[in-house]
Amino acid sequence: MRILFLGDIVGRSGREVIYSRLPKLKSDLKIDGVVANAENASHGFGLSPMIAQDLFNNGVDAITLGNHSWDRKDLIPYIDKEPRIIRPLNFPPKSPGSGFHILTVAKQKRVMVINLVGRLFMEPMDDPFRLINELLTHNTLARGVDAILVDMHAEATSEKTALAYYLDGRVSAVIGTHTHTPTSDHRVLPCGTAFQSDVGMCGDYDSVIGMQKEAAINRFVTKMPGMRFSPAEGKGTLCGLLMQINDSSGLAEKVSPLRVGGQLEETVPNWS
Ligand code: FE2
Repeated sequence: MRILFLGDIVGRSGREVIYSRLPKLKSDLKIDGVVANAENASHGFGLSPMIAQDLFNNGVDAITLGNHSWDRKDLIPYIDKEPRIIRPLNFPPKSPGSGFHILTVAKQKRVMVINLVGRLFMEPMDDPFRLINELLTHNTLARGVDAILVDMHAEATSEKTALAYYLDGRVSAVIGTHTHTPTSDHRVLPCGTAFQSDVGMCGDYDSVIGMQKEAAINRFVTKMPGMRFSPAEGKGTLCGLLMQINDSSGLAEKVSPLRVGGQLEETVPNWS
């Protein structure tokens, strides 16, 4: 099974590169399922129900969120009706929505998608390590699901890497999101879990992590509130991690970055 995980979609530039490039990439690279982090898809902050549907209509099979989950208030009543949108598992227990979902992708494969947020340099939340450990005692690769993907939406590389090794051999992939800059540490860990500490963003890289440069620089220089942050609106780069997952074990066989369009050097795996 071949799965693509797309990094944080930021604003219109991120959405448009997905609409223009994903459907063909999905067929050319024989991708069975696509998961995308979309917590910054609506003008950089949150996700509207309409944009979620546009993403589903253009090849995204499931959406994960993060610290900006509730920035768009209209998502709050909607998330309980749309289980393909997954909020962090370690949000407070009565939060709307769910921290995981099992979706059926091509070839009737069942893929469990789990979203977590980190706790280092972020808002206080429940312990992601304990909660995912509990969830994985009831859901395993040997019992009813063909793959398990974990989006660890976190600031600190150490926390993401520790989670990946903690889950090595128990899940198909641990993919880091949130910092919007792709790292070059993508690999398959010793017991078969795919990992990249940050998958990058789908958006305009001629920016400060997706936002227009001037406002971001001004904030650092003056230390004063000032210009509002808005997404940069130049050409977007589609940025993700492609994973080949073994059909019987559910563990990763190989991984490769996938980057097309916009500012970053293009990387397209030539997998047959
Ligand atoms: Fe985030």
